[in-house]
Amino acid sequence: PELQDLAGKLAGARVLMTAGPTLEDIDPVRYVGNRSSGKMGFALAAAAVAAGAEVTLVAGPVQLATPAGVRRLDVRSALEMHQAVFRELPGQDIYIGAAAVADYRPAEPMNCKRKKSGDEWQLRLTLNPDILADVAARDDRPFVVGFAAETNDVEKHARDKLQRKRLDMIAANQVGLPHCGFESCDNALSVFWPGGGEDIGLGDKQTVARRLLQLIAEQWSAR
Ligand code: CTP
Ligand code: CA
Repeated sequence: PELQDLAGKLAGARVLMTAGPTLEDIDPVRYVGNRSSGKMGFALAAAAVAAGAEVTLVAGPVQLATPAGVRRLDVRSALEMHQAVFRELPGQDIYIGAAAVADYRPAEPMNCKRKKSGDEWQLRLTLNPDILADVAARDDRPFVVGFAAETNDVEKHARDKLQRKRLDMIAANQVGLPHCGFESCDNALSVFWPGGGEDIGLGDKQTVARRLLQLIAEQWSAR
């Protein structure tokens, strides 16, 4: 789809998004992280601007230029992202959780560098809040779109997340395939909503993001 196809589709809507990984500090020199590049989320933010939305992007640590017209707030950890999202949430029409939020963080982060000692290091991790599920659980919730990164049984896992987290829409990508998903420029998505779905075939992240944004705009208007 060309950029023009998006024009006006989200005119005046306020969109809050997350993108990128979160990094969970172990000590001042080490962290637990993941391979998210943030490219899909940033492409989606650009598409939302092209559709006429007012876009706030809460971004984990990524090396990407801010798309024109996007208000960007940088965070590092899942707890920081959770805080920024809930501060920005009032008055938003659509929430898109594109970030690869770390499920766990070090239970006892250290203020000083941990010195090498012994043959083993057992790192204890503790569960992070689920930002997406917390947004969707609110009474005055916006239209909520989640992502799902799966290596297998994509539709089953994605539909399960759609229901369990009470989402309006979920975009699933199969990770671990060559040319697909994390760290790569091409992507393919399977999108599901209650009572429907659509596959977005392999394409560059710009093209895939624009098609996804069209689907979001359609479902949001029909809500
Ligand atoms: N997500 C979130 N906060 C978390 C974990 C995930 O907001 N602490 C969001 C992601 O931004 C994404 C969606 O939840 O939109 C699904 O992430 P995913 O990792 O696929 O699902 P999980 O529920 O964490 O389940 P699992 O990792 O076991 O597949
Ligand atoms: Ca997860």
